[in-house]
Amino acid sequence: MNSEAAPHTTEVIYPDLTQKRVLITGGAAGIGYAIAEAFAKQGCRIALFDVDEAGLERALNSLRGAVGKHGSVTDPDAVNAAFALMDEAFGGVDIVVNNAGISMNKPTLELSLQEWQKALDINLTGVFLCCQAAARRMVPQRSGVILNISSIYGVVAAPNRLAYCATKSAVAMMAKELAIEWAEHGIRVNALAPGYARTALVEQLVEAQRIDDRALAKRTPLGRLATAEEIADLAVFLASDKARYITGQVVGIDGGWTAYGYI
Ligand SMILES: NC(=O)c1ccc[n+]([C@@H]2O[C@H](COP(=O)([O-])OP(=O)(O)OC[C@H]3O[C@@H](n4cnc5c(N)ncnc54)[C@H](O)[C@@H]3O)[C@@H](O)[C@H]2O)c1
Repeated sequence: MNSEAAPHTTEVIYPDLTQKRVLITGGAAGIGYAIAEAFAKQGCRIALFDVDEAGLERALNSLRGAVGKHGSVTDPDAVNAAFALMDEAFGGVDIVVNNAGISMNKPTLELSLQEWQKALDINLTGVFLCCQAAARRMVPQRSGVILNISSIYGVVAAPNRLAYCATKSAVAMMAKELAIEWAEHGIRVNALAPGYARTALVEQLVEAQRIDDRALAKRTPLGRLATAEEIADLAVFLASDKARYITGQVVGIDGGWTAYGYI
């Protein structure tokens, strides 16, 4: 079956999200930007935190009313500055989407310590720093939602992706761990595990012939890659009150990829 991607919703379907204060790491492009747009459509107040200064500028130009902080999730001072911006601009934070991440697609025997460390710093330590900064604000207000963007490769393994698989499974476990630690404070924490979506990250791998997008679509039971908007729709749902009893979950959005176990 080849299911068509539906256009992004334009209506306000989660009125409880109106005016919610949302910080999205890596929000200048790809899935992060689609998530920012989707929350904006629900009437949220948006802050983007991204290491790509020019990309951030472009994103802020097209996302009216959003604020932004340039910096890396790996830098504790920059993380503090991003959350300070939330305090200044919006008086706090309600929802944090830990989306910033990089791929690391290389045979393990060729993976340098520096590359391994880089993936850990961005994909894992960055998420820890942002979760901690978020909860320092969410615990006193007794509410908040944190979403970690994991991957199908946090759930199942693929060759030549040791650092990616290890970090993505770690942020999935981080969601479970923090969900049980912070539930008593009214904070929900979940992870999303998307399959391949057409973003710059994936286009670069296609161009470098490290992945074959047609083979990936064929391997997917729904017969195509995801769109960033479909992943964004799940993020918005998980942040809304409609998902108020969902916490500590790793929610797959992969067109059937991880369910498929045949040839
Ligand atoms: N695209 C996919 O197929 C796919 C599938 C599953 C999971 N994911 C995950 O989704 C997330 C977003 O992926 P994408 O495809 O949109 O990537 P992308 O490369 O298109 O965009 C990533 C954004 O994060 C920013 N970023 C990178 N390092 C950063 C840092 N240290 N600090 C702050 N910002 C930083 C980049 O500047 C960019 O704006 C990643 O965590 C990725 O692992 C992607």
